[in-house]
Amino acid sequence: MKGVILAGGTGTRLRPLTNLMNKHLLPVGKYPMIYYAIKKLADAGIQDILLVIGKQSAGMYVDYLGSGNDFGVRITYKIQDQAGGIAEALSLASDFIEANEKFVVLLGDNLFTDSLLPFVQEFQSQPEGAKVILKMVDDARRYGVPVIEGAIIKSILEKPENPPSNYCVTGIYMYDNEVFELVAQIDPSSRGELEITDVNNLYAAKGVLTYNVMNGWWTDAGTMESLHEAGAKLKEGE
Ligand code: G1P
Repeated sequence: MKGVILAGGTGTRLRPLTNLMNKHLLPVGKYPMIYYAIKKLADAGIQDILLVIGKQSAGMYVDYLGSGNDFGVRITYKIQDQAGGIAEALSLASDFIEANEKFVVLLGDNLFTDSLLPFVQEFQSQPEGAKVILKMVDDARRYGVPVIEGAIIKSILEKPENPPSNYCVTGIYMYDNEVFELVAQIDPSSRGELEITDVNNLYAAKGVLTYNVMNGWWTDAGTMESLHEAGAKLKEGE
C-alpha cells in the first residue's frame, strides 16, 4: 500500500508561529512535526509516500526530507496552490495511486502512539470501501463524530453541537481508488472547503465505511495547547 500525507494548510490557529513556516515543520519534541507521520508510515511498511504541501515552506520540506532515503521511504511531492480543504488536497493524489490500489491518508498534524500496522493489515483484507480510525475524546464537538452501528459507521457529523458518541474521527483514513470519484461529487462546505467528512459519508451511505479504535495517546496538534502537549508527550517517548 502507498501513503499520502496532507501537510499544507494555513495553520491559522498557530499564528504567529505559522507566519514563519508551515505548521507541519514546527518543532514537536526533537523533530519537526512532519517526521512523525513519515515514521508511522515507514513503521507500518509503507515506503511510497506522497507529501501534499502548500507553497509556503516547500523548500524547507525538501531540505529536511530530501528524497526520503534517510527515513527509509521514497517521497513524491505535490503542491496544493490554495488551501481548499482536506478532500481537495487528497484529490491531488489521483495519479499517484494505481487503479485497484488502496492507500492510507494521514493528516500531518495528527500525532499518536498506536502502530498503524494492524489497521493497515485489516484494511488490506477489506474487499472495498474505506476505513477511519477513531479515538475516544473529552470534547467530541471539536471533531468529526461517528454514528456507529456494529462494525460499520452509518454517518459522520462534522463538529456537532450534540455529539452522538464520545469518539472522534481522527485524521487517519484508508481508501480504495473510488475515493477520487467521490471527491469529485462533493460541493464546498460553508467554510468554502471540500470536506473529508462529506467524502467519508458517501462511503458510509453505501455501507462500506469500517473503523478501528486507537487505544494510545492521540492529538491533533493544530492549536498552541495541543502543540505543547504533543511536544511534552513525544519528548518523553524518545
Ligand atoms: C478535520 C476533519 C475532522 C477530524 C479532524 C481530525 O477537522 O474535518 O472530521 O475530526 O480533522 O484532526 P479540521 O482540523 O479540518 O477542522
